[in-house]
Amino acid sequence: MPNILSNSRTFITGKTGVGKTYWTKKVLLPLFPGIVVYHDPKLECDDLKGTFYLVTCPKELHNALEAGRKKILYQPKDLSWIDFNEMCRVIYMKGNSTLFLDEAALFCSASEINEWHQNIMCRGRSRGVGIVNLTQRPRSCHALLISEAENFIIFRLQLQTDIAKVKYIVPVEYQDKIYTLEDYNYLFIQDNIAKVMRPC
Ligand SMILES: Nc1ncnc2c1ncn2[C@@H]1O[C@H](COP(=O)(O)OP(=O)(O)O)[C@@H](O)[C@H]1O
Ligand SMILES: [Mg+2]
Repeated sequence: MPNILSNSRTFITGKTGVGKTYWTKKVLLPLFPGIVVYHDPKLECDDLKGTFYLVTCPKELHNALEAGRKKILYQPKDLSWIDFNEMCRVIYMKGNSTLFLDEAALFCSASEINEWHQNIMCRGRSRGVGIVNLTQRPRSCHALLISEAENFIIFRLQLQTDIAKVKYIVPVEYQDKIYTLEDYNYLFIQDNIAKVMRPC
């Protein structure tokens, strides 16, 4: 079982269909007993609706947190960066919580990151706020998502531009694994130590 703290920064990548979301829900979510907000812009997580409280805008998120809700599914009705930034602000101000961002590349780019997303990445730890950024496209993600992370989960990637972006955090002897891993297998990297992990 990976040792990932709820106030840490985790970067999860791999081409589409390799098992990022499945692993995150099955392995990572149960590790965090505190407040968890799962951002689901593609509305792919209806399976969480039984156990998670559904909100669709920053105001509803704020009210749910104030009411003491601990497991929250955020399915935004507005896909704008303004809505996203405000959601990050609400979580940062609340403190002691973990934000899961499935499809993180929809809300940043290689050159731009929203103010409150950046605040969580750079200053969240001291407020007890952790974040898990998932993406199939590291090339389109802001460098902070990788440079500030302590935990890396790397499933198979295919494109050289994506591999180039994450290669520097992978120990040399594991770099060929990035494009040879089988589906649902992944590299788990912490403190420059990598392990190949089998499916859950
Ligand atoms: N460890 C696993 N064992 C069996 N099936 C899996 C596993 N991981 C993922 N899958 C299946 O593979 C498909 C793609 O997984 P998903 O997590 O949605 O991929 P991604 O988020 O990387 O695009 C899903 O149908 C999922 O149920
Ligand atoms: Mg997914």
